[in-house]
Amino acid sequence: MCGIVGYVGPKQAYGYLIEGLFRLEYRGYDSAGIALQNGNQIGIRKKTGRVSQLAEICKQDPIKGSTGIGHTRWATHGEPSDVNSHPHTGGNGEVVLVHNGVIENYSILRDRLRELGYVFHTATDTEVAAHLVAHQLKESLKQGADPGDQQTYVRAVESTIKQIKGTYGLAVLFRDVPGLLIATRLGSPLVVGIGRGEYFLASDASPLVGNTEEIVYLNDHETAVITANSFVLRRQDGTEPTMSIRALEQTTQDTDLGEYEHYMLKEIFEQPQTIENALRGRMDDDEATAKFGGLNLDPQTLRRIDRIVLTACGTSWHAGLVGEYLIEEFARIPVEVEYASELRYRNPPMSDRTMIFAITQSGETADTLAAMRECKRKGHPTLAICNTVGSTIAREADGGIYLHAGPEIGVASTKAFTSQVTVLTLLALLLGRMRHLSHPEGKRIISQLRAMPEKIRQTLKCFDKVKEVARKYYTAENFLYLGRLYNFPVALEGALKLKEISYIHAEGYPAAEMKHGPIALVDENTPSVFVAPRCEIYPKVMSNLEEVKARKGPVIAIACDGDDKIAHLADDVIFVPDVDEHLQPLVTSIPLQLLAYQIAILRGCNVDRPRNLAKSVTVE
Ligand code: G6P
Repeated sequence: MCGIVGYVGPKQAYGYLIEGLFRLEYRGYDSAGIALQNGNQIGIRKKTGRVSQLAEICKQDPIKGSTGIGHTRWATHGEPSDVNSHPHTGGNGEVVLVHNGVIENYSILRDRLRELGYVFHTATDTEVAAHLVAHQLKESLKQGADPGDQQTYVRAVESTIKQIKGTYGLAVLFRDVPGLLIATRLGSPLVVGIGRGEYFLASDASPLVGNTEEIVYLNDHETAVITANSFVLRRQDGTEPTMSIRALEQTTQDTDLGEYEHYMLKEIFEQPQTIENALRGRMDDDEATAKFGGLNLDPQTLRRIDRIVLTACGTSWHAGLVGEYLIEEFARIPVEVEYASELRYRNPPMSDRTMIFAITQSGETADTLAAMRECKRKGHPTLAICNTVGSTIAREADGGIYLHAGPEIGVASTKAFTSQVTVLTLLALLLGRMRHLSHPEGKRIISQLRAMPEKIRQTLKCFDKVKEVARKYYTAENFLYLGRLYNFPVALEGALKLKEISYIHAEGYPAAEMKHGPIALVDENTPSVFVAPRCEIYPKVMSNLEEVKARKGPVIAIACDGDDKIAHLADDVIFVPDVDEHLQPLVTSIPLQLLAYQIAILRGCNVDRPRNLAKSVTVE
């Protein structure tokens, strides 16, 4: 949510900043802006809309400088407008900064600063930080601080953040100190790339790819003081933490569109590979179980677990629901799936044998991070199922499982969902084999999992049929998504995908629960998508389908290959390969991803950058 970039070095900063903003645009695309320092002045360009619009105005009216910052915005305080776009200036322009996060006490601070004579031009919370840094600087200079000493500026930032309540990733330039960039974080991610005589700053590692191979993630309460020939980390108490330099693992190829028109489509079609990556090296045929390198829990501790809490947001929460069914079925351990935004403020009773898993693609979702920290504080083993290597959640968890799905750029999550479900299946298998699950049962699950990449490949062939179905229904304004057991979370996820990128109202429901309300919505203009592969209660799902048909509701069915019965009842059928009931979400979710994609395309929506959304929600 909001992306930040920064550069200090010998080159013109513009190239890195603008390219970095393009790569970070998934974090927000309400507006974009840059600030470049040229001698003792700072030029600013900012504009509502996409990074490409910013690039256009910079082309017409260029600015120069070898130190700079940039920002792509997801609006929280103040509507998307040119004036509310970052960077913001403080004082009389002596401070320029960009911010990711929310300053919760901004109105108190703003009133105080107004009384001191500061004039506010924007409706943002960020402007408060800019004026506050300028004020702290002014005060310390008045008290005799040395304007030629870098520490004077570091202290102005440090005393500002002491007064801020909320979350921030900040990158600050000072008009009168060319070549100095100060960055600091609490709750919003920042990473520094180390080059030769140059440093790069970004909200995540993607802008750094191709620019550097060594990176340092900032931790909360850390401040980076960067010039072209020095990079120092400081904690708020003035100490210098040990700097942990890591190798950057991403490649440019991971973020290229290749032959695809949209990242979402590319990521949907990557799923045979991403599922294979999630499985690689994690199946133990001899013991008929799963193995993970990074759980950091010994078998005794794992056996003692008597309850599991899965916490997440959005699509990851839906994956958690599938995980609940799997773990309870295979391992007979009670599982709860908690919205992270609720869990962080609730205080559910949890025994010391409760294990927590935070499920997250980005590893930066503010609510998931806060829920995880709250559970950790109470002493529970807290693990992460995460895609983004080096993200805050991955670093702070006691252990965890990486998805290895590669960067997911489309705002609507697709491949991360199926990788999360794959990893949760392996986890359920591991816990099951430590308890009730038999060796033959374990073997059967492993062989089904091993076949999954090929099954997904076959499933993707349904795209032509999906296109046909999309053409028929894309003008509908309401959709119902219905499924039972393992396909209930799939129905929720299918509805979410459609809402996110097509702006169509869609509700996901357990198919039988439909009778308790949503059936009132059924009419000839409201399609119902039944996720109805063969399963234990298939006949019951058929009855629900008949109930919709009896009320003239059009039915789109997701069914197993060769299901002639459903082909007679439903208006349209999208067939998927027959797989074990427990693994059905991996195949049934795919036509729903494609359906949402194709409907969004037909409605002319921006699939990869849907309105109002952001890929990584780093504010509450
Ligand atoms: C945002 C994204 C969703 C994602 C959710 C949780 O809402 O748009 O696609 O599922 O955040 O994100 P996480 O990175 O924690 O999985």
